[in-house]
Amino acid sequence: MANQLLSIAPRHVSLPENYVRPEPQRPRLHEVIAGTSIPTIDLNSPDIIDEVADACTSHGCFLVVNHGVESVPEMLEVSSEFFDLPAEEKAKHYSDDPMKKMRLSTSSNVRTETVRNWRDYLRLHCYPLEEFVPSWPSNPPSFKRVVSTYCREVRQVGMQILRVISLSLELEEEYLVKILGELEQHMAINYYPRCPQPELTYGLPPHTDPNAFTILLQDPSVPGLQVLKDGHWIAVDPQPNALVINIGDQLQALSNGRYKSAWHRAVVNSDKERISVASFVCPCKSVVINPPEKLITNGSPAVYKSYTYDEYYTKFWSRNLDDEHCLELFKRE
Ligand code: OGA
Ligand code: NI
Repeated sequence: MANQLLSIAPRHVSLPENYVRPEPQRPRLHEVIAGTSIPTIDLNSPDIIDEVADACTSHGCFLVVNHGVESVPEMLEVSSEFFDLPAEEKAKHYSDDPMKKMRLSTSSNVRTETVRNWRDYLRLHCYPLEEFVPSWPSNPPSFKRVVSTYCREVRQVGMQILRVISLSLELEEEYLVKILGELEQHMAINYYPRCPQPELTYGLPPHTDPNAFTILLQDPSVPGLQVLKDGHWIAVDPQPNALVINIGDQLQALSNGRYKSAWHRAVVNSDKERISVASFVCPCKSVVINPPEKLITNGSPAVYKSYTYDEYYTKFWSRNLDDEHCLELFKRE
């Protein structure tokens, strides 16, 4: 029911019971490490291959600057306009069916989860654009135009990153582009309202992304993304004009565990709502995920079974976001 959307409900003065995490699962915000930076990589850097190799091994996460995505300000603007629309307008798009290709929903998967997350999100499929844009919201009036432009620009960055990651694994430049097939591209426009008790809940609990990698645009004025590094949560404070790259489960599997799918979470705050735009770069569903021979050696035997991305994705959505790491279920005996 659409009235479950946080962006429709009246402002809460205390956190509803079904959002409260049991004590051991709470975010412990005072323990978060602030001010340590995660790697920032200039896409025009002459040393980009080494820089990406280091970042993918150490953090599974990095910021990119000089990415050429010019529609960033408009994309943030139209996202916030969308969540400001009247309730009836948003209700038209509501669904809790995770298989729907366009839906406005809340939390993560309200059909399976026991504790909710303090987030609404609009999920879109974005490739090929001609196929999906007609089903996107036509309000705000500029939505289709702005989001399509953003999707095209982000896809360019995604392809560039895949080529650099291939080279950084000492593979042929086109290796990952070829092996991942006609890449799917999905988007989640996340809306995290102000939360009366941010210590008790999450926008998104700790998780890794199930796809190849994610390109995340953060609200430049409101922090909320945190990444796990050596057992500590570190704040990835937004930097103007930077996009966050999060390595996902499929690049961890394809690199035979050399690159780490980053554990990350989104926390909320009581001062200001926050918007983020996650672009998920995904293998084609039929692709068999199997690392190249070159990355399987006596010293590093194959870690995961081979599987299709379709199998993985189905398994991922049948679970809860904060269950055991989905990739663990695909390990060799
Ligand atoms: C996601 C995600 C983080 C954020 O959408 O998968 O991790 O800061 N988002 O919104
Ligand atoms: Ni994520």
